[in-house]
Amino acid sequence: MNVPFIDFSQQYEMIKDRIDRELRTVFEKGDFILGKAEKEFEAQFADYCDTKYAIGVNSGTDALYLALGALDITVGDEVILPTFTFIATALCVSYTGAKPVFIDIEDETYNIDPEKLEKVITKRTKAIIPVHLYGQPANMNEITSIAKKHNIAIVEDACQAHGATYKGKKAGSLGDVGCFSFYPTKSLGAFGDGGIVVTNSNEIDQTVRMLRDYGRKDRYEHKIKGYNSRLDTVQAVVLSAKLDYLDEWNQMRNDHAAYYCDLLKEIDSVTAPVIKEDRTHVFQTFAVRVLNRNWVIEGLKKRGVSALIHYPIPIHLQEAYADLGYQKGDFPVSEKAADEILSLPMFPHMKKGQIEYVCASLKELCSESQKVA
Ligand SMILES: Cc1ncc(COP(=O)(O)O)c(C=O)c1O
Repeated sequence: MNVPFIDFSQQYEMIKDRIDRELRTVFEKGDFILGKAEKEFEAQFADYCDTKYAIGVNSGTDALYLALGALDITVGDEVILPTFTFIATALCVSYTGAKPVFIDIEDETYNIDPEKLEKVITKRTKAIIPVHLYGQPANMNEITSIAKKHNIAIVEDACQAHGATYKGKKAGSLGDVGCFSFYPTKSLGAFGDGGIVVTNSNEIDQTVRMLRDYGRKDRYEHKIKGYNSRLDTVQAVVLSAKLDYLDEWNQMRNDHAAYYCDLLKEIDSVTAPVIKEDRTHVFQTFAVRVLNRNWVIEGLKKRGVSALIHYPIPIHLQEAYADLGYQKGDFPVSEKAADEILSLPMFPHMKKGQIEYVCASLKELCSESQKVA
């Protein structure tokens, strides 16, 4: 059996007629940049996240970068983030000229460990970026109380957490500003690049709106030095059609995750994801831990199962960040996770039989692996 890592073909079938119809209108009217459908999507997404504002931008990376820009973060400032995340979380800090300050993660959730925060806060610390990794929100109560005590902003990296909740509140609405990616493989994915910034602050909304559009106040009146980073109307049409199904698709992912976890109980050397009681996980990624991971991944490949690693190298050990002087051993929880983590196939229209096949293959491989070891 072949089990792809993701397959969104059935999602496309569900929205095809609607997007064909709506895209024709965009094409006929030439309404490509910041068009009607883009404005409508912003309102729908703000409503979905329970925030006052949403500003469409051209990627999750830019969402983070412009959010930091709106908070005036610049050279000489420091921004705290987990080392175990996709590199874009750190790159956006570097683009501003500020220094990324890495910390370790919690062993169970793979999210930033609030207990490690206060040790690295300095006078220069301007923001914390909690990443809701794989689709489960970080421990926001703890993070928020530390941030408030030190007057530090919170920029949520919710790029993997569309629709996840923490104590009943939506990811993206928990800090000062929330950032999402619509990269095609995300739970809410465009047919190209895209991203969005959500916030309840009128000031952040206004600044991000200018920053994404050449710093424009009016057509040829530029208040600040901005960029060209807009969500195009074609992507907004696709995203709007998909947003209507997001909760249903997230529920399907949750059902698959529950079935996976049930089957994985039979394999001692595999650790299933832990879902904290006060939050919902949207399983953008279904990540388990397994011993002898690289050997297991090869075995899965031979059996037709696509599995990936998110992420094999924590950012403090990436060559791109060698200048910061971190060493192996600095963040042991992240380094161990990077050695053991394995993302299994996950998409809403997966079949039960596919999950059974993945787990049976894993079971076989894990018992062989014990013999090999
Ligand atoms: C945690 C995280 N942060 C940031 C990004 C950057 O988003 P994008 O690829 O849309 O620039 C991604 C996705 O790729 C991500 O997973």
